Amino acid sequence: MARLTFLGHAAFHLEGRGLDALIDPFLTGNDMTHYSPGDFPDVNYIFVTHGHGDHLGDTPEIAKKTGATVVATVEMCSELAKAEVKSHPLQIGGAFTFPFGRVKMTPAWHGSGIQHEKGMLYGGVAGGFLIEVDGHKIYHAGDTGLTVEMGLLADDGVDVALLPIGGNYTMDIDDAVRAVRMVKPRIAVPMHFDTFPVIKASPEEFASKASGLAEIKVLKVGESLEI
Ligand code: NI
Ligand code: MN
Repeated sequence: MARLTFLGHAAFHLEGRGLDALIDPFLTGNDMTHYSPGDFPDVNYIFVTHGHGDHLGDTPEIAKKTGATVVATVEMCSELAKAEVKSHPLQIGGAFTFPFGRVKMTPAWHGSGIQHEKGMLYGGVAGGFLIEVDGHKIYHAGDTGLTVEMGLLADDGVDVALLPIGGNYTMDIDDAVRAVRMVKPRIAVPMHFDTFPVIKASPEEFASKASGLAEIKVLKVGESLEI
């Protein structure tokens, strides 16, 4: 059994056998969450989809404190190495079998610049993750527009798809519904909405438009899904 907890925005806590992971842990400065970096002392992996501040978030601090391994693209890992953080570089379409299960990086149509006080640092390309734990598959799309590549995931038997619905920087509700149709997950969870004024969206509207394509779970911050 695996447990997935929504931490607000695109941040999730994923627990399973041998895995205590954070995905895109943007906690500090995130008005949507009441969690802070110190709330996850036992984290052993952190998955980062791309370099934007609302995804990279507190990764360096948490990784340093816990000794967790950061999984991200080669370019992101090379930047994180400067912060003396342990990392495992992957690249889009590449997969690696970790002790807890297999992780594949999936494509995302988005940028990955790392926001830095001296300007934007090169962060390679943005991605998403297909994470297998305890025989369950979780797809975190990252920030992305709708892409035809999502259709390739239909063969993977995705249990839970975490999809952005807020628009402006990513898919909006209607494109996220099309993504559900392409990925064919058992369960879909909306994310990346309401945190900023330009990404205001109604998760209930997504749930009603996507009902019939998958089971839709709208998670409140702090709410968990047992898979
Ligand atoms: Ni982004
Ligand atoms: Mn974002």
